[in-house]
Amino acid sequence: MFSTTKYSSLLTKGLIFILFNFPVFQAFSREGMWIPATLKNHAKDMKADGLQIPVDILYNEKGTGLNNAVVLFGRGCTGEVISPLGLILTNHHCGYGSVQGVSTTEKDYFANGFFAKNRAEEIPIAGLTVTFVRRMENVTDKILSGINDTIRGAERDNIIADRITAIAKEFSERTHLDASIKPYFEGNQYWVAITETYRDIRLVGFPPNGIGSFGGDVENWMWPRHTGDFSMFRIYAGANNKPAEYSSGNQPYHADQYFKINTSGYKEGDFTLVYGFPGTTEEYISSYELKEVYSITDPISIAARTRKLDVWSKHMTLSRDNFLKYTSKRAGVANGWKKWQGEVRGLEVNKAIEKKQAFEKSFQKWAGNLKEYPLAGNILAEMRAEAEAADPLITEDQYNKEAALGIELVAQGAAMEKMIGCFRLNLPDSTLRDTLNKVINSMGWFYKNYDHATDKDVFITLMVLYFTKCAAKLPEYYESAYKAHNMDIIAWAEDVYTNSLLVSADRLKKFASTVHTSDSIKLLNDPAWLLYNSINSVRKQRILPALKEYYTKMHYLNRLYMKAQMMKNKSKIFYPDANLTLRVAYGNVKGLDPDGPAKYSFQTTLGEVIALDDSTSDIFKVPKKLKELYYKKDFGRWGKNGVMPVAFTASNHTSGGNSGSPVLNAKGELIGTNFDRAFEGTMSDYLFDPKRCRNISVDIRYTLFIIEKFGGAGWLIDEMKLVK
Ligand code: ARG
Ligand code: ASP
Repeated sequence: MFSTTKYSSLLTKGLIFILFNFPVFQAFSREGMWIPATLKNHAKDMKADGLQIPVDILYNEKGTGLNNAVVLFGRGCTGEVISPLGLILTNHHCGYGSVQGVSTTEKDYFANGFFAKNRAEEIPIAGLTVTFVRRMENVTDKILSGINDTIRGAERDNIIADRITAIAKEFSERTHLDASIKPYFEGNQYWVAITETYRDIRLVGFPPNGIGSFGGDVENWMWPRHTGDFSMFRIYAGANNKPAEYSSGNQPYHADQYFKINTSGYKEGDFTLVYGFPGTTEEYISSYELKEVYSITDPISIAARTRKLDVWSKHMTLSRDNFLKYTSKRAGVANGWKKWQGEVRGLEVNKAIEKKQAFEKSFQKWAGNLKEYPLAGNILAEMRAEAEAADPLITEDQYNKEAALGIELVAQGAAMEKMIGCFRLNLPDSTLRDTLNKVINSMGWFYKNYDHATDKDVFITLMVLYFTKCAAKLPEYYESAYKAHNMDIIAWAEDVYTNSLLVSADRLKKFASTVHTSDSIKLLNDPAWLLYNSINSVRKQRILPALKEYYTKMHYLNRLYMKAQMMKNKSKIFYPDANLTLRVAYGNVKGLDPDGPAKYSFQTTLGEVIALDDSTSDIFKVPKKLKELYYKKDFGRWGKNGVMPVAFTASNHTSGGNSGSPVLNAKGELIGTNFDRAFEGTMSDYLFDPKRCRNISVDIRYTLFIIEKFGGAGWLIDEMKLVK
């Protein structure tokens, strides 16, 4: 990709200062998330940037590397092993769902935190797993041999799927472990990961929200940041230290590799390394696809969510009950909403589309009559034609998803599909009633967290958006229902929320308690069902098959495009886009100097947390005990000169999924836990700008201070290995 290619090659040559007049910094920011098994290729660069240990301490073929101390936590976060007894550290927001499952009004861990006093108090979390990557191997030749670039579509997919199954089986039989094979570089490479998944995971420590999600959505995706975003768990193993289902007889996992913890801090410019599982990046796509993100999907999602969040926020202030119903949903919806705003702005400031277009021009010049790879000359033209044809459809579907299906009641229409299905079973009335009741009971979470007055207001505001933006493309039922209500959306909403059964579990249960087999018509005429079903049919019949075809073609073209980009720049070492596999990113501790008047230091402190304290705010209320510790300056071994560090920024290339990742110093010792990125740099999933892209981490000393002084769980620190 043009911009990234340009940045990194210029950076290594040091020309950037002359060309862009950037301020001089001691070490370079490094774009890239590298496969651990390829680190040898970077040993020189990493050393030049400050790494003081051989790269094979991080990963080696003998199986003794620090990769054995990093885990995929749950399905989408990272965690690190920090003691020989399987203690793991991850983020507060990564442990949040697990804690919700074991928290009650009497034992409210969100309000009070939880720190086990001994191992017996650790709480098993059903369903939680952590996965180690023991070894990786490049299996490209095995997967791709004999398949040339012109074999495409289902034919290619089938051959590859068969080979993946066979080769993964071979690996797992040989190693007695799991093996998973994934494509890299758009399917130009394949790697196998030999993994081990542990299934008895217990909660050990979780600070209250006043620390672990301090600043909430307001400070989310922002630097400066003041969140102690960490939580702790322990891995338990069965016989021979192997994975096992939960059992009270299981023992703590014995870890040969775990991170030593360095408590002497860092200074600006110091080497940092993030080891974890970034989820998705698309650094090498064409300008045509980037435009889809920049001008279609991001702006539409932002517009719809701005409306929805406005309504939710208003209703959340009306009652505590509403607040509790919507707080967790709000966090999820707002997380994407804010990230995409940063993304759009970052792409704009960086002139990302123009940069891609300039690269495409030079690419085309090179590829035009290329004998070495004749397919290359047509890639961009084909991509352009495909994208232009698909853009209206992508636009339409984004409104379907974010506007129409963004209304909870409409999306919940899907649940009626199940209920209608029950009628097709020809059950006697009494059995039908039982079956329907089971379906209704399975919607418990939805109704526990649903307020139909709130949703009715969302309906009004999102329908206005939907009707304004999709006037020519409305599903038939939307047109007719709108007309039937004299084109009055408020009256229409009134009708829907007064009459739909889906508005409350009580209504549904009442319906189910006296239902007859002939009553399916009541569901088929339910307005929520009609709203859902009409969109669903249009999507299933017209939109999704066309989009699937588009994405399949683009996937094919992107594979060729990636290959050609690598051919064009043979001297550059490319990194593969993130795909939720284990990666290493290296950079250095670095403050942020975005475009505004302010510059931000690389570190925040507890003093700043206290200054933000607001007892009337849910998210800025500092726990009393933390304030006491602060005023007594009771920082134990962890503060320095009366200052308690909280969070810091660095220039590592990270993405969603890197939350919870260990942040290491030049000696491979733990100095923090990664949890977010700065607003100015969230476009790093498409373009990494060393001036603006920063990852944000909790300082390990703050974590230790909270564990020991706030949580009273010093016994946990005794099992860690602290170094200076
Ligand atoms: N931005 C963080 C990441 O994408 C999530 C932080 C969670 N906190 C919040 N207020 N939603 O996962
Ligand atoms: N907060 C993100 C996560 O949960 C990290 C990021 O996107 O930088 O993985």
